[in-house]
Amino acid sequence: MSLLLNLSSFGNPANAGNVLSRDEAYLLFTDWVKNERLQLHMKQVAHLMKCWAAEKEGLNEADQWRWEMAGLLHDADWDQWPELHCKKIIEELEARNIDPEIIRAIASHGPNHFGVIPETRMDKMLYAFDELSGLTHAYSLMRPEGYTGMELKGIKKRFKEKAFAAAVNRDEIIEAMQMAGVELETIMQFIIERQGAV
Ligand SMILES: [Fe+2]
Ligand SMILES: [Fe+2]
Repeated sequence: MSLLLNLSSFGNPANAGNVLSRDEAYLLFTDWVKNERLQLHMKQVAHLMKCWAAEKEGLNEADQWRWEMAGLLHDADWDQWPELHCKKIIEELEARNIDPEIIRAIASHGPNHFGVIPETRMDKMLYAFDELSGLTHAYSLMRPEGYTGMELKGIKKRFKEKAFAAAVNRDEIIEAMQMAGVELETIMQFIIERQGAV
């Protein structure tokens, strides 16, 4: 099964800045995604994207929401239409005249699957957070205290253990860090400190 999108443009440039309201986005989210684990993953990535946009990119509230929205909806079609993963949510957001930057970020969250290389800051950070967020959450589930007291050295150890959360592709995470121009440890620490709030 190929998920390649064979797309090079996303949405309409005239729609720059167009977003769903928070209510609209959550309506789509709960309508399409029934799996609670997947819902949590999407909310966690949304939170990380918002925090990064605010703290590291210094973006205003409107832009923070654009980043958060990309995180919130990046896997929206995975639950019910895995064979259409990415394609369906892209078409939905294009039909709703959403900002092309948000659509492009979603389209490039798995360059090795969808064939779209991350270009913008939003693209690159979504790719950087996606899998590492999942690995960190898996680690939290095996700790009695969850995220409380979680240390960088603990997550680094799990990262090196190939058998732990084996579905998480370490090579892709390293590639994502290089594309984003951030250190793996920086992102690990960022996630450790924020993900427990979701
Ligand atoms: Fe995905
Ligand atoms: Fe994801």
